[in-house]
Amino acid sequence: MPKLIVVTREGEERVVSGEAGLSVMEVIRDNGIDEVLALCGGCCSCATCHVHVDPEFAAKLPPMSEDENDLLDSSSDRDADSRLSCQIAFSEALDGLRVTIAAED
Ligand code: FES
Repeated sequence: MPKLIVVTREGEERVVSGEAGLSVMEVIRDNGIDEVLALCGGCCSCATCHVHVDPEFAAKLPPMSEDENDLLDSSSDRDADSRLSCQIAFSEALDGLRVTIAAED
Protein backbone atom coordinates (compact mmCIF):
# COMPACT_ATOMS: atom_id res chain seq x y z
CA MET A 1 0.00 0.00 0.00
CA PRO A 2 1.27 3.50 -0.74
CA LYS A 3 2.64 5.52 2.16
CA LEU A 4 1.44 8.91 3.30
CA ILE A 5 3.47 11.16 5.57
CA VAL A 6 1.30 13.29 7.83
CA VAL A 7 2.69 16.21 9.83
CA THR A 8 0.39 17.09 12.71
CA ARG A 9 -0.22 20.59 14.07
CA GLU A 10 2.32 19.86 16.81
CA GLY A 11 4.91 19.05 14.14
CA GLU A 12 4.89 15.30 14.77
CA GLU A 13 5.57 13.32 11.60
CA ARG A 14 3.60 10.10 11.15
CA VAL A 15 4.10 7.65 8.31
CA VAL A 16 0.92 5.75 7.55
CA SER A 17 -0.27 3.44 4.77
CA GLY A 18 -3.42 3.99 2.84
CA GLU A 19 -5.45 2.02 0.39
CA ALA A 20 -5.39 3.42 -3.12
CA GLY A 21 -8.83 4.76 -3.99
CA LEU A 22 -9.52 6.26 -0.58
CA SER A 23 -9.20 10.02 -0.27
CA VAL A 24 -6.20 11.45 1.55
CA MET A 25 -8.67 12.68 4.20
CA GLU A 26 -9.92 9.09 4.72
CA VAL A 27 -6.38 7.75 4.96
CA ILE A 28 -5.53 10.34 7.63
CA ARG A 29 -8.71 9.68 9.59
CA ASP A 30 -8.55 5.88 9.30
CA ASN A 31 -5.09 5.99 10.84
CA GLY A 32 -6.44 7.61 13.98
CA ILE A 33 -5.20 11.14 13.38
CA ASP A 34 -8.14 13.16 14.65
CA GLU A 35 -6.94 16.70 13.81
CA VAL A 36 -8.72 16.46 10.48
CA LEU A 37 -12.35 16.82 11.51
CA ALA A 38 -13.82 16.23 8.03
CA LEU A 39 -17.18 17.43 9.28
CA CYS A 40 -18.95 17.12 5.95
CA GLY A 41 -17.69 13.58 5.39
CA GLY A 42 -15.80 14.43 2.22
CA CYS A 43 -18.38 16.20 0.09
CA CYS A 44 -16.37 19.41 -0.28
CA SER A 45 -18.49 21.67 1.89
CA CYS A 46 -16.70 22.22 5.21
CA ALA A 47 -12.94 22.85 4.70
CA THR A 48 -12.08 21.10 7.99
CA CYS A 49 -9.88 18.69 6.02
CA HIS A 50 -7.49 21.46 4.88
CA VAL A 51 -3.86 20.38 4.46
CA HIS A 52 -0.69 21.84 2.97
CA VAL A 53 0.73 19.50 0.34
CA ASP A 54 4.42 19.02 -0.41
CA PRO A 55 4.93 21.16 -3.56
CA GLU A 56 6.99 18.35 -5.13
CA PHE A 57 3.75 16.46 -5.62
CA ALA A 58 1.74 19.38 -7.00
CA ALA A 59 1.87 18.12 -10.59
CA LYS A 60 0.48 14.72 -9.56
CA LEU A 61 -2.57 16.07 -7.78
CA PRO A 62 -6.01 16.30 -9.35
CA PRO A 63 -6.93 19.83 -10.44
CA MET A 64 -8.75 21.99 -7.92
CA SER A 65 -12.47 22.51 -8.48
CA GLU A 66 -14.09 25.91 -8.15
CA ASP A 67 -15.91 24.73 -5.00
CA GLU A 68 -12.65 23.63 -3.37
CA ASN A 69 -11.00 26.91 -4.29
CA ASP A 70 -13.90 28.92 -2.82
CA LEU A 71 -13.87 26.91 0.41
CA LEU A 72 -10.13 27.31 0.83
CA ASP A 73 -10.58 31.05 0.45
CA SER A 74 -12.49 31.00 3.73
CA SER A 75 -9.40 29.75 5.57
CA SER A 76 -6.94 32.18 7.12
CA ASP A 77 -4.20 29.55 6.78
CA ARG A 78 -4.50 29.23 3.01
CA ASP A 79 -1.29 29.27 0.98
CA ALA A 80 -0.12 28.12 -2.46
CA ASP A 81 0.10 24.51 -1.22
CA SER A 82 -3.37 24.36 0.31
CA ARG A 83 -5.76 21.59 -0.67
CA LEU A 84 -8.80 19.91 0.81
CA SER A 85 -7.62 16.39 1.58
CA CYS A 86 -11.04 14.90 0.80
CA GLN A 87 -10.60 16.02 -2.81
CA ILE A 88 -7.35 14.11 -3.38
CA ALA A 89 -7.74 10.45 -4.30
CA PHE A 90 -4.83 8.51 -2.82
CA SER A 91 -2.96 6.25 -5.25
CA GLU A 92 0.34 4.48 -5.90
CA ALA A 93 1.40 7.57 -7.85
CA LEU A 94 1.19 9.55 -4.61
CA ASP A 95 3.33 7.10 -2.62
CA GLY A 96 5.42 9.17 -0.18
CA LEU A 97 3.15 12.21 -0.35
CA ARG A 98 3.74 14.56 2.58
CA VAL A 99 0.86 16.64 3.90
CA THR A 100 0.82 19.04 6.83
CA ILE A 101 -2.46 19.53 8.62
CA ALA A 102 -3.48 23.18 8.37
CA ALA A 103 -4.14 25.38 11.39
CA GLU A 104 -7.66 25.30 12.77
CA ASP A 105 -9.79 28.22 11.59
S1 FES B 1 -14.23 16.84 4.57
FE1 FES B 1 -15.45 18.59 4.33
S2 FES B 1 -14.47 19.64 2.71
FE2 FES B 1 -13.24 17.90 3.00
